[in-house]
Amino acid sequence: MKEKRKFLQFFDSEDYEKEVPESDEQKKIPPPPFQKAYPKDTILIDLVPPEEFKIGKTPFLKIVNSRKSRRKYTDEHLSLEELSFLLWCTQGLKRELKSGRGVLRTVPSSGAKSPFETYLVINRVEGLDPGLYRYISFSHKLYFIKEIKDAEKTIGELSYNQNFVGKAPVIFCWTAVPYRTEWRYTILAHKFIAVDLGLICQNLYMACEAIKLGTCAIGYYEQNKIDKLFELEPKDEFVVLLQPVGKYPK
Ligand SMILES: Cc1cc2nc3c(=O)[nH]c(=O)nc-3n(C[C@H](O)[C@H](O)[C@H](O)COP(=O)(O)O)c2cc1C
Repeated sequence: MKEKRKFLQFFDSEDYEKEVPESDEQKKIPPPPFQKAYPKDTILIDLVPPEEFKIGKTPFLKIVNSRKSRRKYTDEHLSLEELSFLLWCTQGLKRELKSGRGVLRTVPSSGAKSPFETYLVINRVEGLDPGLYRYISFSHKLYFIKEIKDAEKTIGELSYNQNFVGKAPVIFCWTAVPYRTEWRYTILAHKFIAVDLGLICQNLYMACEAIKLGTCAIGYYEQNKIDKLFELEPKDEFVVLLQPVGKYPK
């Protein structure tokens, strides 16, 4: 177990060159794409653009003070504006770097490598069919992937039987695409990815709190089974955290 701790550490400058291998960036290998491809014949679903948000004006200190993990959700639907707001606050894309080596978002990321994709299991959002979706941040749109049979039950079971997870109107499911960060940072990438994940997780907590929604980070889930459900190629991309979101009872 103590060996595993090392992943949290960095190197003194004397050791850096000995320990850290040459990166693919240094080898002049072109950077990977910073958004996963989707079928070109797909019609993407429009979201509410950030400049049109009418929600989310709660004072910052109020958000900080009221934030907590919320595990009970009402049967109410989320509106498309609420969902758009949460996606923007967690992975909204501001611009691509001119160098082509990263992207700037509403959240920081080591080296601007932004090594995540956002999947949504949607149970109840106004105007959207239930199913599995992916956020296409480059155009702030949604890509419908497929229906999920018995989604509430399935997601509850895949969360180690934490049934409240499946009952939420929307479950945010973050996947990591580690090579985006490894391309520059090699063996240093994995700590950075973990830190980056914490940042989007916290932004979702704060964004929810700002619009009177609740969320809870979920670290316990069935890794291989959920990767399979999402049809991921697990050596390149895998689920790293779930966050159910919904209105909470007063
Ligand atoms: C990485 C991470 C994983 C977590 N996993 C779970 C989980 O699987 N189930 C759960 O009910 N809460 C989970 N939590 C929520 C914590 O239990 C919660 O944040 C903690 O008890 C502090 O409570 P608060 O968030 O209300 O301040 C997780 C939190 C984090 C940050």
